[in-house]
Amino acid sequence: MTATKGLEGVVATQSSISSIIDDQLTYVGYKIDDLAENSSFEEVVYLLWNLKLPTQSELDAFKNEISKHMEVPQAVIDHLRSYDLSTVHPMAALRTAVSLLGLYDEEADVMEEEANKRKAIRLQAQISTVVAAFARIRQGKEPVKPKKGVSYAENFLYMLNGKDPEPIEVEAINKALVLHADHELNASTFTARVCVATESDVYSGITAAIGALKGPLHGGANERVMKMLSEIGEEENAIPYIEEKLANKEKIMGMGHRVYRNGDPRAKHLQKMSKELTKLTGQEKWYNMSVKIESYIKENKGLPANVDFYSASVYHSLGIDHDLFTPIFAMSRVSGWLAHILEQYSNNRLIRPRAEWIGPNTQEYVAINNR
Ligand SMILES: CC(C)(COP(=O)(O)OP(=O)(O)OC[C@H]1O[C@@H](n2cnc3c(N)ncnc32)[C@H](O)[C@@H]1OP(=O)(O)O)[C@@H](O)C(=O)NCCC(=O)NCCS
Repeated sequence: MTATKGLEGVVATQSSISSIIDDQLTYVGYKIDDLAENSSFEEVVYLLWNLKLPTQSELDAFKNEISKHMEVPQAVIDHLRSYDLSTVHPMAALRTAVSLLGLYDEEADVMEEEANKRKAIRLQAQISTVVAAFARIRQGKEPVKPKKGVSYAENFLYMLNGKDPEPIEVEAINKALVLHADHELNASTFTARVCVATESDVYSGITAAIGALKGPLHGGANERVMKMLSEIGEEENAIPYIEEKLANKEKIMGMGHRVYRNGDPRAKHLQKMSKELTKLTGQEKWYNMSVKIESYIKENKGLPANVDFYSASVYHSLGIDHDLFTPIFAMSRVSGWLAHILEQYSNNRLIRPRAEWIGPNTQEYVAINNR
């Protein structure tokens, strides 16, 4: 038995949810470019869960269902208040809050398909409320209750800032949510599938997935991109900074990808938004700096920018705290995780690979007194 490090190139499951073929990403066969330009996030979530695009009335009913379930139990809000939020990372709080939501869901361990679909709606709805509540509580403000009759993107910004957002802000968040919703068998989705393949519950699968997304090699990269841009400070410092990082064999966050070789098809949409939003807010230096870094890394390392690279300056331009970038990724990707969990349950087999043994040959046990 020979191990494949990082499971690179290993095909671990069949799926009908999203595909990456020849550097093109599709959700249920629909090109990400078309979805990014035309879809609402709710339409994409419906697509991922039902494997078809909704009619207008199906979409209206679906939006209504999500909107109805956005409030979270008061106990979860109280729990958030009990942390020292100056030291807790929001991804850690989100991981715990989602696990806690399971304790308040009477159907948490009901494994019928319809019950799992109802839990999917509740989780998708509540996760944005938790992220916004966390952000407000740590600013010493009261959480804002979700609004009825507005989109998921608009509701999130409303709950985060306590005021109606501008249309361009809603458009930016909606597009970011569409672009992050699913991505074949990425690390956190695989984590979710491994977890529920033991016939464990939806909340356990999503809690595990949040843990996987948190890492800097996965969703945690977007926050670190902004940290890097802030450290660089001014455009003229960008290339010397990158050269030094590369000389020290450090990775440049937001660059490279395990699957894409010629470029991440999501990045160009975020780049366009970054250009528009940084111009609008008079912060073009973040965009200009990003473009310089992207072309330097492409030329010198042959690596493309990934989804996290330009999302950083997009969220920053919207005035969002940098450590909320990855929780926003989670708010979107939970839709993909839930789709994959439902797919895994529908045709389940325990996921249990093997390891190549590289330890010592059989050893004689020595009693503790004789060691
Ligand atoms: C995404 C990522 C984890 C994919 O990793 P991977 O397929 O395992 O590739 P490896 O880490 O083995 O890298 C292969 C080579 O490219 C280099 N490389 C990969 N990403 C790099 C980056 N972001 N900056 C600099 N070098 C990088 C590695 O140093 C390695 O070089 P070497 O062969 O000379 O040692 C990796 O590109 C990365 O760490 N990127 C930064 C984090 C990030 O943006 N993550 C979000 C992904 S959507």
